[in-house]
Amino acid sequence: MLRTALLLAARSDRCRAFVERAPLTRGVVTRFVAGATLEEALPVVRRLTTDRLVTLDHLGEDVTDADRAADTVDAYVRLLAALDLHGLTERAEVSVKLSALGQALPVDGQRIALDNARRVCAAADAVGTTVTLDMEDHTTTDSTLEILRELRADFPGTGAVLQAYLRRTEADCRDLAVPGSRVRLCKGAYDEPASVAYRDRGEVDRSYVRCLRVLMDGPGYPMVASHDPRMIRIAAHLAGAAGRDADSYEYQMLYGVRADAQAGLAARGHRVRVYVPYGGQWYGYFMRRLAERPANVAFLARALAGG
Ligand code: FDA
Repeated sequence: MLRTALLLAARSDRCRAFVERAPLTRGVVTRFVAGATLEEALPVVRRLTTDRLVTLDHLGEDVTDADRAADTVDAYVRLLAALDLHGLTERAEVSVKLSALGQALPVDGQRIALDNARRVCAAADAVGTTVTLDMEDHTTTDSTLEILRELRADFPGTGAVLQAYLRRTEADCRDLAVPGSRVRLCKGAYDEPASVAYRDRGEVDRSYVRCLRVLMDGPGYPMVASHDPRMIRIAAHLAGAAGRDADSYEYQMLYGVRADAQAGLAARGHRVRVYVPYGGQWYGYFMRRLAERPANVAFLARALAGG
């Protein structure tokens, strides 16, 4: 119930205005968001990359006009130039939401998002790093995978996110378990109907393990995006059973979540990548983080109450 309400609020302009205006929200947001600007985020990236890898997300989603989508491309081009300038491209890549590149525009959205994504991939390629396409709600999955297919023809290192809560995902894992593919497997963060998604946590976890097995047994590069200690233990077991070396897959977690576990895995010789969001448009991302864990809501409520 609470999760559904928060995910509905994530798409409400009235709730956005209320939460964004509350004077103390910012202190809470900084737990999950590395800064309002690239300049604020870079020291975070430098600190994290001493023992971990990162993927940076310039926050924003659901753009409603082509100019805003072009602004997103410019922001990524600036980000990639800064990563290059600071010598970070070996340890940092970028994550992109296609809805921020125009995917949902009513006229030609798919083509505009593909053209924009191509520009981001070309900028990443020019400085020697890669792009991973985030996955949004289920109405975008086919379009995102189609754009991935087109991008991989020119930029084979382009990665994708698959969400274990979707009933289709095991089959998508099989399709993407090909040489050179990079798949970030997560549980899924949107409010999806039972017709397309598992709603029970146990069913989502079982699907996650099935998908993980397909990816670990395949020839691609699995990216295990979960904070769940059970999923992490199972991933290690499946990687061992598949005869994988520690550098043939990686663990991924979000900035501000289980930082101790991130550091612990890295210290034991695992590749660990932290998803680092930054930028002014943090509202949708932040609300999904609240929805994932009720304790986060209490944390925000205390801040909104001024305590
Ligand atoms: P689960 O929700 O069971 O959490 C396990 C434990 O982790 C919790 O008990 C808690 O301790 C901790 N935890 C999890 N979330 C927390 C939070 N927000 N705050 C504090 N503690 C928390 N989703 C999506 O739909 N599309 C996408 O593109 C992505 N991309 C993505 C990239 C990366 C690198 C990660 C790690 C995750 C995503 N996600 C995502 C989000 C993902 O779908 C999922 O909602 C969260 O990762 C939570 O699921 P867990 O697997 O962590 O398990």
